[in-house]
Amino acid sequence: MALVAVQDGIEQMVSTPHMFNGLSRNPEPSEVIDRVGALNQAVAAACGGRLKILPGNEVHVSHEIVRQVQHDRVTRINLRNYMLVEFPSLTVPVLAEGLFSDLLMEGVTPILVHPERNSQIQTDPSIVAAFVDLGVRIQVTAMSVTGEFGPAAKKCADILLWHNCVHFLASDSHRPSRRAPILSKGRDAAAGLIGKERARALVYDNPRAVVNGEAFQVQPPLPFKSSGKPQRSFLSRFF
Ligand SMILES: [Fe+2]
Repeated sequence: MALVAVQDGIEQMVSTPHMFNGLSRNPEPSEVIDRVGALNQAVAAACGGRLKILPGNEVHVSHEIVRQVQHDRVTRINLRNYMLVEFPSLTVPVLAEGLFSDLLMEGVTPILVHPERNSQIQTDPSIVAAFVDLGVRIQVTAMSVTGEFGPAAKKCADILLWHNCVHFLASDSHRPSRRAPILSKGRDAAAGLIGKERARALVYDNPRAVVNGEAFQVQPPLPFKSSGKPQRSFLSRFF
């Protein structure tokens, strides 16, 4: 996976083992840090320092996550102030907004991962805009933008991109083939929708801010219309 990532121009990857209360082993941050350290040695031997692995977690939403953050049980991205939060694949939990607010109060910015693959959000993508307004940041899977996660995920990803509701593209890679650690294809597909510079921010500037624990510029979400594509003013059509 490291060699594939380096070939694609990727310089840093966050290792995000699943944290799914009751269903995964939920490694402590100290274990994630140790294992990422060992992994970095192997990666340096294979790639000669061209790729660095950083610690993290992908945390499945549950009523326990705020307490787990308070007790330092969650491995935040590069141990700074952002964390990945994942919804179930079919629904948006009713407790999500309250949990996000509580996390923000704790000084942790939640990053909602792959909302474009969630059935309820595919039906109503404007749900995501409400989370963005709250202060949540949004990560879409690169392969959703290329269409490799199917037409429903692609359509939802496009709508979210058009409405300023995507802040990062991620590989969500699990292995060197099939869902490989490749971002360039997703970046290029996004560039076709939102332009080169903004697409680059999704794979470079914004993730760099996150791993450094910094804030970054966020455009407010555009109002959602039922047709999917945002309405553009008469003048903006010429530019
Ligand atoms: Fe996930």
